[in-house]
Amino acid sequence: MDKLIIEGGKRLLGEVTVSGAKNAVLPILAATLLTDDACIIKGAPALRDTNTMLKIIRSLGKSADFDKGVVNVSSTGKKNFVADYKLVSTMRASFCVLGPLIGMHKKAKVSLPGGCIIGARPVDLHLKGLRALNVQTTIDSGYVVAKADKLQGSHIYLGGVYGSSVLATDNVMMAAVLAQGKSVIECAACEPEVVDLAEFLIKMGAKIKGHGTPIIEVEGVRRLHGATHTIIPDRIETGTLMIAALITGGDIILKNARPQHLGALIDKLQEAGANITKSDNSIRVRVKDRIKAINVTTLPYPGFPTDMQAQVMALMSITPGISVVAEKIYPDRFMHVGELNRMGAHIQKEGPYAIIEGVESLSGAPVMASDLRASACLVLAGLAAKGKTLISRIYHLERGYENTEEKLEKLGATIRREKE
Ligand code: EPZ
Repeated sequence: MDKLIIEGGKRLLGEVTVSGAKNAVLPILAATLLTDDACIIKGAPALRDTNTMLKIIRSLGKSADFDKGVVNVSSTGKKNFVADYKLVSTMRASFCVLGPLIGMHKKAKVSLPGGCIIGARPVDLHLKGLRALNVQTTIDSGYVVAKADKLQGSHIYLGGVYGSSVLATDNVMMAAVLAQGKSVIECAACEPEVVDLAEFLIKMGAKIKGHGTPIIEVEGVRRLHGATHTIIPDRIETGTLMIAALITGGDIILKNARPQHLGALIDKLQEAGANITKSDNSIRVRVKDRIKAINVTTLPYPGFPTDMQAQVMALMSITPGISVVAEKIYPDRFMHVGELNRMGAHIQKEGPYAIIEGVESLSGAPVMASDLRASACLVLAGLAAKGKTLISRIYHLERGYENTEEKLEKLGATIRREKE
């Protein structure tokens, strides 16, 4: 296992290009299971999670090669309907192969994702939505076993106790595109990655309306054909790099960025005193004057993204005053608090709230990554800290961020990788 060593205190300056969105490429690769035709996915990020999803669709009968951001997917003719525990347990997003397998083959056996460090990761909404489409589901030895004689479109309310669900919306939409008749998904997730999936499905011949709003309508069709699609930029990588600029007092221009996907974050960072200049596909971020303390509550899109909560906490940890973070999507998503406090932060966790009392500066220390966004938080903290920060278990970071060291080094960071 590798670790990252960061010498903090360097202002980040210059230009960097954002990679394709992890949370778009994963369901879109799963959606290739809905046709036997060839598909070409461009702008795909080279991530651990991308490779995991490629392994899964290969195990389900696809051939898929990935080179310089382009994935060529075609069918081997072999059919397999079982998504294995070994692969699914390493990445919860794998569960989104269930919808396409059911839609295409009317049967599937997919390992339950199980919990992870950020929360229980239930799938009750996924199963509720599929059952509404006339799918029979049972749980057998840790697997969901699903089958349907005929998928029948219907009206599905998909809201849960935490609001909408991204991958449940994806799963149900992918099953509905080949169902008979019309489906309405109410309280659908509105995330840009759900919209990107719907756009890919429409290119494959699906009839979908309302994607990006809480009401998605799907008119079932008989079959889908192959398509070519370019993945949207990763809004969470964009937001993470924006905070890298602010936490180091730097000035960064982000290319291949979509400011329209980051309304809540941009609003909050401007409230904190950031100077943010937007164009259609780029964002410039620098500090206007001092960064001020802000309060953040995570919500489903277009609310403040939970995937940016750890990163904004790193920024607030060295911002004068008291900031409060309310985590309404994954109330346990605070593994980064302990590690930030080891670097000298003053953060107190109270249930789904974290109270942050800003300190003058953090001090570099050996810290351990625990999950993807907590790892990003520790990189940001290391960039700002006085002295050296050693981050171990950075395979968590590599799941969702492409070429981190290269991108940050190009902006002036002192960062290198070492074998553990
Ligand atoms: C997606 O996960 C993202 N992953 C997550 O990003 C992101 O944090 C999450 O959406 C919320 O935005 C991918 O897109 C691959 P949810 P997903 O279903 O779909 C509860 C990252 O760091 N819920 O929208 O699994 C759930 O427990 C990852 O890139 C149910 O109660 O999340 C959570 O509290 C981490 N029942 C809330 O809904 C269900 O059946 C939102 O979860 C499903 C979810």
